[in-house]
Amino acid sequence: MRVALVTGATAGIGAATAEALQSAGYRVAANFANRPDMAQAFTARTSIPAFGWNVADHAACAAGVARVESQLGPVEVLVNNAGITRDAMLHKMSVAQWREVLDVNLGGCFNMCRAVIEGMRERRFGRIVTMGSVNGLSGQAGQTNYAATKAGLIGFTKSLALEGASRGITANVIAPGYTSTDMVSAIDAQVMAHILAGIPAGRLALPEEIARCVVFLVADASGFINGATLSVNGAKYMA
Ligand code: CAA
Repeated sequence: MRVALVTGATAGIGAATAEALQSAGYRVAANFANRPDMAQAFTARTSIPAFGWNVADHAACAAGVARVESQLGPVEVLVNNAGITRDAMLHKMSVAQWREVLDVNLGGCFNMCRAVIEGMRERRFGRIVTMGSVNGLSGQAGQTNYAATKAGLIGFTKSLALEGASRGITANVIAPGYTSTDMVSAIDAQVMAHILAGIPAGRLALPEEIARCVVFLVADASGFINGATLSVNGAKYMA
């Protein structure tokens, strides 16, 4: 049974991904940063163990991965799902809003990949999937910080794919469109109506529709898919 670690896994796309991987036969570990109450409820519902640490904290990621590995075994699949928004037009954006988003979305991916990559190289097998966003491809007013991280994750992933290919390690990005999660339900209703009007499918994605793509990309049989960005956005934007 392969061990899969999903960050930001107790709600939204992360939770759907953790459950889909469990159904596909993986031994899953769910990372969370805040809300231990939600983590507890998630574990009670799914029996997937939850491990708390902040992906923006480099040392905490190393320690967290060590804890997961001592309980479940070596991490062979990493899903970098944890991400935040701090939306504001650039002319109103604070340094804190810029830094927080970079530290979690982009720094978190570095920290987590760094914590697992040496083991994956030694074992000559690894699957890394990172959540991008349609907005990292298309841009989005109010998201210079978020879009910069999501675009940055694509360059990171392409580079990591080149480094890992000869060691049996793949790294890919999924770029979801607007998905039915807490992050999207926080958007102002009027703004949301405008966003929905711009989605040809006429609806938000379901978290499960993103999760099934993760299961596909991390499969042993997907070893030749490397450095790719898979868009799942209801035809909103075609890169
Ligand atoms: N495009 C261009 N200009 C826009 C705009 C848009 N979409 N939205 C607002 N503006 C302009 C307004 O026209 C206005 O211009 P003027 O001052 O010249 O009249 C200016 O921005 C300020 O408008 P507001 O007073 O409404 O601005 P605000 O500062 O209160 O909020 C905003 C602006 C932050 C962009 C807000 O509209 C917002 O949060 N929009 C949603 C952004 C978004 O889609 N976020 C995605 C979150 S979900 C996610 O990120 C998941 C994922 O991966 C898809």
